[in-house]
Amino acid sequence: MMKLMKQAIRRAARAALIDLETDLRSRLNDLNSIGRLPDLGVGYMPWTTFAMRPSGVAQLLNEVVIHRCQTIIECGIGVSTLHLLSDSLGCRTRVIGIDEDANWIKTIEGYLNRMGVSSDRYTFICAPMKSCFEEDIGRIWYDRDVVCSEISAVLKQDKADLLLVDGPKGNAGSLSRYLALPTLHQFLADDYSIFLDDIDRPDERFIAHEWAATFKLNVHVHSDRGGVAILRPETTRRSYTIT
Ligand SMILES: C[S@@+](CC[C@H](N)C(=O)[O-])C[C@H]1O[C@@H](n2cnc3c(N)ncnc32)[C@H](O)[C@@H]1O
Repeated sequence: MMKLMKQAIRRAARAALIDLETDLRSRLNDLNSIGRLPDLGVGYMPWTTFAMRPSGVAQLLNEVVIHRCQTIIECGIGVSTLHLLSDSLGCRTRVIGIDEDANWIKTIEGYLNRMGVSSDRYTFICAPMKSCFEEDIGRIWYDRDVVCSEISAVLKQDKADLLLVDGPKGNAGSLSRYLALPTLHQFLADDYSIFLDDIDRPDERFIAHEWAATFKLNVHVHSDRGGVAILRPETTRRSYTIT
């Protein structure tokens, strides 16, 4: 009995140490990333726990710059959006952002005005949360009719090459980010990347594995780099070798 208890204590201590190490590495990566992120030129900007972490944003910008991503669909806009549209990336990205909060959309538009970003580079879709009872998984998401008709109108025959899923907010409902890919896959190019934030939450882990199985994707989990997962088609040609 004593032996079993000792083994259990040792296992718990080892797990706690691993968590602590990941947490420390993750904080260090955030500190390093803050220095590398572009200066948005908007003065002090609140960076709250709603936002992606700095090292997650840095990974996102790596993806955009290295793979020359042009059209990004983003669920849940904010600090990440401002960075994606920053002139200092040196590429003319375009963002189609989805959010349920009209006031928040106005706030982000205000920042973009101050950054001097031309309004033809972004479209924000304000879509209320809606239950989708015909779905088995992730029954709540943004209103799909609103989202799909507005994206179709913006993209026309064009396709997006990056999908960032950082919304709906965690408290929206169980597995509330699941429907992002089943709904938006029709708007993605043959080769694309998906960033799924908050990957250390059980819901997001489940979603990543469901998407991978359904859409034949590779999943890379970066717990110590912003807590994001990056998913790409198994057939992707994207690599980090810059040529
Ligand atoms: C799900 S988060 C997505 C954040 C975004 N991807 C980023 O990195 O900043 C967006 C939602 O969080 C809320 N939100 C974000 N930042 C906020 C803030 N500083 N204060 C209040 N609400 C905020 C907004 O209402 C919005 O609907």
